[in-house]
Amino acid sequence: MNRRENKRNQAWSFATRAIHVGQEPEPATGAITVPIYQTSTYAQSAPGVHKGYDYSRTDNPTRTALQEALASLEGAKYGLAFSSGMGAETTVLLTLKEGDHVVSSRDVYGGTYRIFRRVFEAFSLKFSFVETSDVRKIERAITRRTGLVWIESPTNPLLRITDIKAAAEVAHRHRALCVVDNTFASPFFQRPLSLGADIVLHSTTKYIGGHADVVGGAVCLNDRALYERLKFLQNAVGATPSPFDCFLTLRGIKTLALRMREHEKNATGIASFLQNHPRVRRVFYPGLSAHPGHQLAASQMSGFSGMVSFEVKGGLAEARRVLSRLRLFKIAESLGGVESLVELPAVMTHASIPKEERQKAGLADGLIRLSVGIEDDEDLLSDLRSALRG
Ligand SMILES: Cc1ncc(COP(=O)(O)O)c(C=O)c1O
Repeated sequence: MNRRENKRNQAWSFATRAIHVGQEPEPATGAITVPIYQTSTYAQSAPGVHKGYDYSRTDNPTRTALQEALASLEGAKYGLAFSSGMGAETTVLLTLKEGDHVVSSRDVYGGTYRIFRRVFEAFSLKFSFVETSDVRKIERAITRRTGLVWIESPTNPLLRITDIKAAAEVAHRHRALCVVDNTFASPFFQRPLSLGADIVLHSTTKYIGGHADVVGGAVCLNDRALYERLKFLQNAVGATPSPFDCFLTLRGIKTLALRMREHEKNATGIASFLQNHPRVRRVFYPGLSAHPGHQLAASQMSGFSGMVSFEVKGGLAEARRVLSRLRLFKIAESLGGVESLVELPAVMTHASIPKEERQKAGLADGLIRLSVGIEDDEDLLSDLRSALRG
């Protein structure tokens, strides 16, 4: 993309960019939709002379389109797509060196905790888990070897909010980079680079793909040297998405704006219904004024997204009972698709975090996490109403 095109693309609104950036009609035929370039290699007119593509682990035109679209949505100069969110995380972590240290939000996604503790610790990286919603705790945990401050905001599954601007400032004061996992907010509601973060990371499996039909990951950033390093690692490590997965993700992106508005509308209604329900002990949703991070979320996000967690009175046994009575909400891992899902983090997505660590993070065994879909809101409420009935 040349500079003029880039300027024009950034002038368009989010919904327009989601449909058009990186997705111009295909020059040979005029195909409106970016084709699935299902090829592993490319003909060269002479050795080393090609049209920008030589091997599909390195680059593929469908992936190029996706990467441009992703970068545009995050307001970034560069985007890189991966075969999963974990593939993106691995590639970012591989920018570190033996002995380096990471300060991480405490209630991160269980798989993030697992790759930190059970994969990268064996390569002599060190990790500290702190309550990053209190930025002073980040500063206290930083060491001379801290290379990354790793933030999830909102967190999975407790929806805690970290002040991204303040966290990035702390990281930069200590010459560390600030990485924000923006999976829960999606770029529609939160743009961490504009708040000072250095790297935005996504499991595109979630809201960005949006239809529970593809696993993927992404990294977006502005710094050229860091991009070159990550681009090198993307190819060297090889956690790259297939052309078909890129196509599916691009197809999801086109409706991201529409979907996110509906997710938020439905989640807001459900959070206030649960808040007033006699069988519910606590509700976690940053859109509720009672949520401790509400003001901060309102200042750094343009909406509160579609994830709601809650604790029922009666702990794990009662939580299991509620899940067994839900009809529309399907019991499943993952989130961010058009269909509503429900899960028990302590038993499912966060089971890889030891119980003591979960308890320290405030993650009760009976916590229920909802990924609120875009079905009719009255149908969702009536499903919850009957499941919670005695
Ligand atoms: C916040 C968050 N980050 C990263 C991941 C990992 O992404 P993936 O499952 O696409 O590898 C997940 C998966 O649930 C997640 O919820």
